[in-house]
Amino acid sequence: MNQHLAPETLEPPATPDLNSLLLAPRAAQAHHATAVPIYQTASFLFESYDELAAVFAGTSDRFIYSRGNNPTVAELESVIAALEGVEAARGFASGMGAIAAAIMPFVQAGDRVVAVENLYSDAFRLFEVVLKKFGVTTDYVDGSDTEAVIAALPGAKLLYLESPTSWTFTLQDLAPIAKAAKAEGVLTVIDNSWATPLYQRPAELGIDLIIHAASKYLSGHSDTIAGLVCGPKALIDRINHEAYHYLGAKMSPFDAFLVLRGLRTLGLRMARHMENGLALGRALQDHPAVTQIRHPGFHDHPARAALSGYGGLFAFDFDASVDVPRFANSLRLTRLGVSWGGAESLIIPGEAAIGLAGASNSFRRFKVSPRTIRFAAGLEEPGALVEDVLQAIEKARK
Ligand SMILES: Cc1ncc(COP(=O)(O)O)c(C=O)c1O
Repeated sequence: MNQHLAPETLEPPATPDLNSLLLAPRAAQAHHATAVPIYQTASFLFESYDELAAVFAGTSDRFIYSRGNNPTVAELESVIAALEGVEAARGFASGMGAIAAAIMPFVQAGDRVVAVENLYSDAFRLFEVVLKKFGVTTDYVDGSDTEAVIAALPGAKLLYLESPTSWTFTLQDLAPIAKAAKAEGVLTVIDNSWATPLYQRPAELGIDLIIHAASKYLSGHSDTIAGLVCGPKALIDRINHEAYHYLGAKMSPFDAFLVLRGLRTLGLRMARHMENGLALGRALQDHPAVTQIRHPGFHDHPARAALSGYGGLFAFDFDASVDVPRFANSLRLTRLGVSWGGAESLIIPGEAAIGLAGASNSFRRFKVSPRTIRFAAGLEEPGALVEDVLQAIEKARK
């Protein structure tokens, strides 16, 4: 199984202090509000013709219209940019809105994209259903094979990474890959939702654009759909001019507020998600019915050095002795459901994912095992979570 017990502790992340970022918000200063207010307004008024003309001409940065800029969303954008250690960020209506906006401005008909195998299933559909229609083709590579990734770069326009991938949990060695991409003039984009900026900071390793599905850990309560793209100002400006304003998938002020609220407990929550994922991995790695643990903490790979912590989302594979539907139906604490990053533990069995309706099914394309169980470890007490999974396995063994 080539498995290694996950380390008990990891180097603490070198991340700006979250509280000081969140307690000095520009938008809140007017009334000394502790939390960032929700600016639920479509538009903003001008005192005079001269002021309006200055704003239109771009010589004043006052707010105009909330599809473009909104104080609550702007606050979140500046906090995330600081956490990722980059110049700028933009908020979107969903993680997919962020992914689309990070790609569309940089490709055109005839271009080739390289993406990692087992990327998020709807990102795969974006490439296969939408980009293909506009004449952009995508080649898929095993992201854990750094030489294979580098060999695929010549002639490509953009490299799409997700480290780790959110079904097989395959890491990519970001520093050498980013260096090779730079030498080939290939733009690098990564989905960093699993690690969050607390546990992985891709810009420090040379990656150009960083995406967050803020619907997951950043908001953290399964009550928000939101996304962010972070990177150097020049690239974010290009996204502004070629995708943000005209595709219109902007983040709402209320969703920005929920993500800002979630960020206040991000460090605490991530520590528990990590603890729960590792506790389950340890309990299952020697279980006779489990053939594989898919968790970056349980496999040696040079890319692990980029992580200062682990998300709680991972997977494991059952042998033939377990009846998967019976296992799923026997869980008491853990629920069945898509998504991840909230307080509750959720599973999706591979067999159900393989059966997902619609064209371009990534689970079939990348031959996901029907015996894989994807497990989003929530915030429950670790002992209770482990007990729940072990009792469900016992009930489901033939
Ligand atoms: C790894 C990953 N990236 C991106 C997304 C897309 O985020 P959203 O649902 O907010 O569009 C998801 C959603 O499940 C995801 O799991």
